[in-house]
Amino acid sequence: MSTLLVTNGTLVTDTATFAADILVRDGKIAAVGSDFQAAGVEVVDAAGKLLLPGGVDPHVHLDLPMFGTTSSDDHYTGTKAAAFGGTTTVIDFVSLPPPVPPHSGVEWGGIKGGVASWRVKAEKAAVDYSAHMNLTRFDEAIAAELPSLPGMGITTLKVFTAYNGRLRIDDGSIFKALRIARDHGMLVLLHAENGDVIDVLVAEALAAGHRTPEWHARTRPAWGAVEAALRAFALAATADAPLYLVHMNVAGEVDMLRYARERGLKVMGETCPQYLFFTDDDLRRPDGAKWLCSPPVRSAADNARLWEGLADGTIQTIGTDHCPFFFDGTKPILYEGKEIAIPGKELGAGDFTKIPNGLPGIQDRLPVLWTAGVGSGKLTANQFVALTSTNPAKIFGLYPRKGALLPGSDADIVVWDPEKKVSYGVALSHQRTDYNLYEGWELTGMPEKVFLRGRLIVDGEQWLGRAGMGEFLPRQPGAPIQ
Ligand code: URP
Ligand code: ZN
Ligand code: ZN
Repeated sequence: MSTLLVTNGTLVTDTATFAADILVRDGKIAAVGSDFQAAGVEVVDAAGKLLLPGGVDPHVHLDLPMFGTTSSDDHYTGTKAAAFGGTTTVIDFVSLPPPVPPHSGVEWGGIKGGVASWRVKAEKAAVDYSAHMNLTRFDEAIAAELPSLPGMGITTLKVFTAYNGRLRIDDGSIFKALRIARDHGMLVLLHAENGDVIDVLVAEALAAGHRTPEWHARTRPAWGAVEAALRAFALAATADAPLYLVHMNVAGEVDMLRYARERGLKVMGETCPQYLFFTDDDLRRPDGAKWLCSPPVRSAADNARLWEGLADGTIQTIGTDHCPFFFDGTKPILYEGKEIAIPGKELGAGDFTKIPNGLPGIQDRLPVLWTAGVGSGKLTANQFVALTSTNPAKIFGLYPRKGALLPGSDADIVVWDPEKKVSYGVALSHQRTDYNLYEGWELTGMPEKVFLRGRLIVDGEQWLGRAGMGEFLPRQPGAPIQ
């Protein structure tokens, strides 16, 4: 593959900012420095621009079946949107297939079957990708299969303390999974809410005739997230295993994470943009279903505490939990010149328990965080890179191939224009849905060019990538605790 030289840019890493040229050969960074020979080399002049390592989104749900529909971005459309937002690596989720009845003739059930069918679905990705395993059942057979996961390139397990009867496993099973993970260099991810309390509150709300989206938040209390986080930290401490708290949404989780880390526990945390910007007031809007996700958006005080947790290093990463649905899936949108409509939030009109949970954000993450985080002085540019690229790459066993612009790293380079101003919204979004949470936001700072392993895939508004050019990233066990 040809050689590329990106000149005159300012490189931003997780710890430093400096002028540097980047020489790329065969899709990898060959050297970082100055005075490289440009003869016979394609040159990209990045004067006045920043050079960032491609974003790593550690938490996305592509083509996820839910409530009789599926999340509306598949592995192609979601990864294309990711690229337009400056993200070149995503980590999706493998689901466990239903148990295989004996003598059914089905060759692969369980973990192996789940990974095999996810690999087929994910082949059309346009940026590089990996997956976590959703551990939504636990028995002797599943426990016996878990150690084979790293051999399939998957080193992380997500467990749930909510979604009773669907995704939740009991505390004893979480404890056993933590010990297996510890013994095989794997990491457990936790969705922290109190499933029992949610079930009681939902039944009471429905009996009382409450049907609107705000009741989604009112039946999923913040204290449930706080106690479930502390409970899981205690299980992790007892198992002497690492744990990563996904989609932190409430101030008390930040306090619990800080408390646990100060005591030397190997625990880490992730939040998502929706928990930094939105509140349950948004759920009370006429189009409140657009903001409905689990865990729910909380209060302005929670937003503020999460920002503090990012700035002071208590929280390690910002993912998206990208899980989009149409707001009105009866009305088609144009996607790549063709009409498409996918059933979405309207499925729950008149009953908040039937609204598909989740919202879009895979493309929005870097642009909104740059403006609202770096632009406002809440985060430095280096913290921005650490939280959205380097830390997730380290925690999930992808560093320094991803999350860095070092010699030998993949040449996933974002040429970032810190001065570019846009009025953001669905018209600029490639997320395959009919709305954008940041409609009308005035943003300053956008990706100008995005390279995936040295290939230009986004040039301004032009899409140069294609389905299937993303590579599966097998991850190594034993990734460092951050
Ligand atoms: O509402 C959300 N976040 N849907 C995705 C599933 C999850 O728990 O992350
Ligand atoms: Zn979750
Ligand atoms: Zn999720």
